[in-house]
Amino acid sequence: MSKLKGRSLVSITDYSKDDILKILDIAEEFEQNQRQDILRGHVIASLFFEPSTRTRLSFESAVQYLGGSIIGFASPDVSSVTKGESLKDTILTVSNYSDLIVMRNPLDGSARYASEVSPVPILNAGDGANQHPTQCLLDLYSIRKTQGSLDNIHIAMIGDLKYGRTVHSLVQALSLFGATFHFVSPDSLKMPSSVKTVVKNAGLEYHQYTDLTEVIPIADILYMTRIQGERFPDPLEYEKVKNAYILSNDMLDDSKETMKVLHPLPRVNEITEDVDDNPKAYYFQQAKNGIYIRQALIAAILGLK
Ligand code: CP
Repeated sequence: MSKLKGRSLVSITDYSKDDILKILDIAEEFEQNQRQDILRGHVIASLFFEPSTRTRLSFESAVQYLGGSIIGFASPDVSSVTKGESLKDTILTVSNYSDLIVMRNPLDGSARYASEVSPVPILNAGDGANQHPTQCLLDLYSIRKTQGSLDNIHIAMIGDLKYGRTVHSLVQALSLFGATFHFVSPDSLKMPSSVKTVVKNAGLEYHQYTDLTEVIPIADILYMTRIQGERFPDPLEYEKVKNAYILSNDMLDDSKETMKVLHPLPRVNEITEDVDDNPKAYYFQQAKNGIYIRQALIAAILGLK
């Protein structure tokens, strides 16, 4: 029986290197055989207090391909939260109706709190600018699939490294595998010290840049991110940096043959559409890999794999 049975996933640091590799291996099985009737009779709740396309729909798709049922809401506007119901009461109520709760919430730390009050496991689908561990796992899956291994890669992360929760989770996870990190951001959106400390404590290197062109020739992975306008306290500060990095196809001429461009999506303007047809563009396949990872997580946590 899986060590992951019954455990919440709130932060990628909740998982050991072995746990991560186990999920990636199960996800590979699902990529080979996506339709398995193992969730029949199980109900998954999906509570999205913040907008989503990929995470919510790939969870729904994952459950349905496995023969399970999914309940929930895509916006708090249609829940009793609008009447003043607390997060604790919402979780305690929904846990009566489901075997596992997937939750996205705009507040940092809300997923950890939910996991502490919930009698059923919580899968964090993003909490504020803090963590997005299921995205992290699909990013790792995409990196392993395209590079052949997770070990010792050079990864460049570009854009909003302050508010972008996906890069925080990914740095923490790749620090288990010996990566070298290249952080490219405006000065106001640098990677938080707490995340850089994880890299230092792992005995690894990180380098900081403001110029995107410097990292293109050295990267195995270019991980582009959106400037997270909705998290800026001052809209004028967002205006100053919203066009800071725009990757276009001609800029990839100097990149390694095996390099791939990843992006958690949605994109706004940080990758021009002429990159989409370049074989180095991997972001839509990356989003597809999310189904296999979410199938693997649900199956492992419910003790079905
Ligand atoms: N990558 C990601 O979290 O996308 P959504 O916000 O559309 O779920």
